[in-house]
Amino acid sequence: MGSPDDDDHPRKQAYHHQTHNRYKLKMLLLVILTNLITVYIFTGPSFNFNHLSGYTHHLPLPLWDCATLSQDLNSTKSELTSTHSQIAELHQQLTSTNLLVQSLLIELNRVHELTTTTNQVSEPLMKTLLNDDFTLGVMSNELKLAIGPHKLPLGYSPRMGSNELCPPVGAGCLRFQDELSQYMTYDVGGECPVDDVFAQKLMLKGCEPLPRRRCHPKSPANYVEPTGVPDSLWATPPDTSIIWDPYTCKSYQCLIDRKNVPGYFDCKDCFDLQGREKTRWLFDNGGLDYGIDQVLGIKPHGTIRIGLDIGGGTGTFAARMRERNITIITSSMNLDGPFNSFIASRGLIPIHVSVSQRLPFFENTMDIVHSMHVLSNWIPDAMLEFTLYDIYRVLRPGGLFWLDHFFCLGSQLNQTYVPMLERTGFKKLRWNAGMKLDRGINKNEWYFSALLEKPRI
Ligand SMILES: *[C@@H]1O[C@H](CO)[C@@H](O)[C@H](O)[C@H]1NC(C)=O
Ligand SMILES: *[C@@H]1O[C@H](CO)[C@@H](O)[C@H](O)[C@H]1NC(C)=O
Ligand SMILES: *[C@@H]1O[C@H](CO)[C@@H](O)[C@H](O)[C@H]1NC(C)=O
Repeated sequence: MGSPDDDDHPRKQAYHHQTHNRYKLKMLLLVILTNLITVYIFTGPSFNFNHLSGYTHHLPLPLWDCATLSQDLNSTKSELTSTHSQIAELHQQLTSTNLLVQSLLIELNRVHELTTTTNQVSEPLMKTLLNDDFTLGVMSNELKLAIGPHKLPLGYSPRMGSNELCPPVGAGCLRFQDELSQYMTYDVGGECPVDDVFAQKLMLKGCEPLPRRRCHPKSPANYVEPTGVPDSLWATPPDTSIIWDPYTCKSYQCLIDRKNVPGYFDCKDCFDLQGREKTRWLFDNGGLDYGIDQVLGIKPHGTIRIGLDIGGGTGTFAARMRERNITIITSSMNLDGPFNSFIASRGLIPIHVSVSQRLPFFENTMDIVHSMHVLSNWIPDAMLEFTLYDIYRVLRPGGLFWLDHFFCLGSQLNQTYVPMLERTGFKKLRWNAGMKLDRGINKNEWYFSALLEKPRI
């Protein structure tokens, strides 16, 4: 237990505290008192400036001068304020004048354009555009309007690099004038002809992009709201969601059953989501079939986020990627079936562009590009090389190009495609080649699959 000294010590401290506190209290009272006296002297009933007059004279500025100064300041301030509001008013007037001039210019241009397009198409431009292949006479007015040129409002030329706009059409359009004219024949503002197959043929022949039209596509009757995600990813859409006119099949069930029908159809078993589609890219066999998770595992988790599947059939690759929170745009043609509508019904993004078309993405943007069964030896070599360079262009540094089941002859593999891929500049991360199992007439048919990377510089 503690000694008596220990016990005593705190009490002594308390005593000292008490005397110290009393002293503090006295000082405080003194301070309050003096303050009260001061307050009384200055604010009391007898206080006025005269009491201090002797004192104020010693200040560098008399209070009298302060008042004038304050007045001066006040008036300067008010003058400033009024000037400010005048400037604001002027500014407003200028803006409205500017707008007026701008709208006048736009109106002028419109009038000018109307006279040129209705009377004659700007001849020299048309000649260069059409390279004399086109006789201007056969162009309908609607076609002329669709492909321009259209004058831009003044002031827009520096940004656009030209004072007129020519909406793009594929150079191939010029070689199929009759078909193009037929495509551009419709009631302006009315319903478009149901001509998707015809239009797509034109695209595939090189008239891509097609000119725009001023008509409404036929709407499917009894359209119902689509299935919600994620169920939509694996749901067969209702037959009422599309127009069946152009296809031999008139229902999705017919398209599903087609896998058992002899004969060639593009992506024959792709519409059956419960069939082969269900297991695609889920397993990696160490050979030609790569698994999505094995491919994604090559990169840090989450860094493959956006990409493109070239010729992606019914969109199953995009669906599997969507389940991994990756957004894939699926390019597809509607060959033998409504592929674009089907992809969209699954809640995925279809784009209707052929493999000939420059990819509509900016360079160094995509994390991944995938393509299965589409890029193959049917594509003329020179064209394929441009396509590969385009894929390289849109991929970001470190981006992946998954070339899935490229079909060719054994001799072409090492002679043509390996050197071409090397020329393009891709880095090989994985490479598998194998004889095609269901070989046809030619016994030397091969596939190769490759995981390529756009190198970082
Ligand atoms: C200056 O303006 C303030 C308020 O804006 C006013 O209180 C003050 O009396 C004015 N002074 C003079 C000298 O006019
Ligand atoms: C996808 O994102 C959602 C929401 O952020 C998250 O709950 C889910 O776990 C993610 N799925 C995968 C496979 O990463
Ligand atoms: C291609 O070349 C590689 C190595 O140079 C060789 O192993 C392979 O057998 C060749 N492939 C074919 C199909 O000729």
